[in-house]
Amino acid sequence: FTERDKPRDLAGVRLLVTAGRNAEPIDPVRYVTNRSTGKMGYAIVEAALRRGALVTLVTGPSELAPPSGATTVQVQTGLEMYEAVMARVEEQDVIIGAAAVADYRPKLRHEQKLKKKEGNLLIEFERNPDILLEVGQRKRDDQLLVGFAAETENVLENARGKLMRKGADLFVANDVSQSGAGFGTDTNIVTLVDREAEIALPLLSKLEVADRILDHVLNMRTRRSS
Ligand code: CTP
Ligand code: CA
Repeated sequence: FTERDKPRDLAGVRLLVTAGRNAEPIDPVRYVTNRSTGKMGYAIVEAALRRGALVTLVTGPSELAPPSGATTVQVQTGLEMYEAVMARVEEQDVIIGAAAVADYRPKLRHEQKLKKKEGNLLIEFERNPDILLEVGQRKRDDQLLVGFAAETENVLENARGKLMRKGADLFVANDVSQSGAGFGTDTNIVTLVDREAEIALPLLSKLEVADRILDHVLNMRTRRSS
């Protein structure tokens, strides 16, 4: 099959994807964020729609156009993303966490723009909830959970650790220190890590990576229901 005439092998499968970054406000004009562009998550949405899935996209700020055909929920902060996911998780068959969720948020959101003063500025951060971990804890046997691990060292060990700790079924391990992989690129080099094996994929477009992830998800669903 070419990309264009993939079978509609995900027809009726309800899939929720998180994508993009978060913006965590400091005051009305400033925020803390990260380099995620949303490309990988949006590619999963596009691939899944082509294959007939019923897709909900929960996205942080992204320059990419909201995909037509998906139910898109736009959020800013990690807490908003957490609430948007938790409100919709029950009705999903597959949950894929491709968002670079902010691990921390500034403890105070100042009502007025901060004025500069002599000396240094200290901003205290507090932890955001771990969306994937909580989904993993509540997950039913008929649901599949997929996470992403963007790492710069000990890539496979870290990804496997996250897979186990978060109760996920599959992790996509991403070495973001390699060129052609990671933030902002149109390609990616990933290894699929599940409970049994590690499958290293070559350099592929993010859309092809998306299809490989969905192939694997479909395989796991078939195995589980037989
Ligand atoms: N994730 C999440 N909620 C968070 C943090 C991460 O749902 N608050 C999800 C991400 O969407 C991703 C997976 O967990 O699918 C792994 O994210 P990652 O940042 O690699 O792992 P962390 O557990 O946050 O650990 P660390 O950043 O310390 O490596
Ligand atoms: Ca993190």
